[in-house]
Amino acid sequence: MIMLNGIEFESSKLGSKEHWEAVYARELNSFRDIGDEGEIWFGQESIDKMVQWAAEHVPPSDDPAILELGSGNGTLLFSLVEQEDYSPQRLCGIDYSSSAVELAKSIAHQKAMQDILFHMCDFLHQDPPLPSFVSNSEEQKNLGQVDNWDLVLDKGTYDAIALGEKDEQGRSPVFRYPSQAARLIKPGGFLLITSCNFTEEELKANFLTQVNNLVYHSSIKYPTFSFGGHSGAKYSSVAFQKTSQ
Ligand SMILES: C[S@@+](CC[C@H](N)C(=O)[O-])C[C@H]1O[C@@H](n2cnc3c(N)ncnc32)[C@H](O)[C@@H]1O
Repeated sequence: MIMLNGIEFESSKLGSKEHWEAVYARELNSFRDIGDEGEIWFGQESIDKMVQWAAEHVPPSDDPAILELGSGNGTLLFSLVEQEDYSPQRLCGIDYSSSAVELAKSIAHQKAMQDILFHMCDFLHQDPPLPSFVSNSEEQKNLGQVDNWDLVLDKGTYDAIALGEKDEQGRSPVFRYPSQAARLIKPGGFLLITSCNFTEEELKANFLTQVNNLVYHSSIKYPTFSFGGHSGAKYSSVAFQKTSQ
């Protein structure tokens, strides 16, 4: 059982790389067979709202560099280009599933968005690729700098990682996430995370207690529902901003 801020999570297959490989291998086959681009996690509404949030706070006119953690089939990044005209050359999606990366690249090719970089990377243990627009990349590499990104996005990946197997010390792999994500963000840049397993308050508690220079910035409002005397939203999207170090 995984405990995060008092909430118990059973580890599950949704937290394993094998699961996601199998999911995206199936989706890749189906894209090749019938052109189906695969599942839209949390539905179109969450994509539209994340894109709107980005357009308001990290507008395309600033030519921001944007990284998605666990980009799956790439729909969120494609939507940034299709809906708000973000520059594909400044977008990157990383995923630890090779089939997800292959699927996202195939769809990008079909949409003539090959300039979006999709790269295989387990971001809890590896650094994402240095974007080609970083001019002093060798120097950056030598300095170990990875904070190249104006906006880091997550839709469902934190949730999946929270369900991963515990290590020998009994910790869920998600304990590494806030600091790993924070180090990728430029000072002044943002992390926008959408979850179906954590409420806004839980996300704040999980990200703001770490020593990672993140402060709460804003959140996206979703329609709420009431059930059994409780009310809440199906999803939570919270934006954190990185302070200068
Ligand atoms: C719920 S899916 C969401 C995919 C995508 N963000 C979307 O909204 O369609 C979670 C994704 O996280 C990826 N993932 C999980 N752990 C990861 C890790 N440590 N590094 C990179 N990707 C990871 C999975 O392969 C999967 O694509």
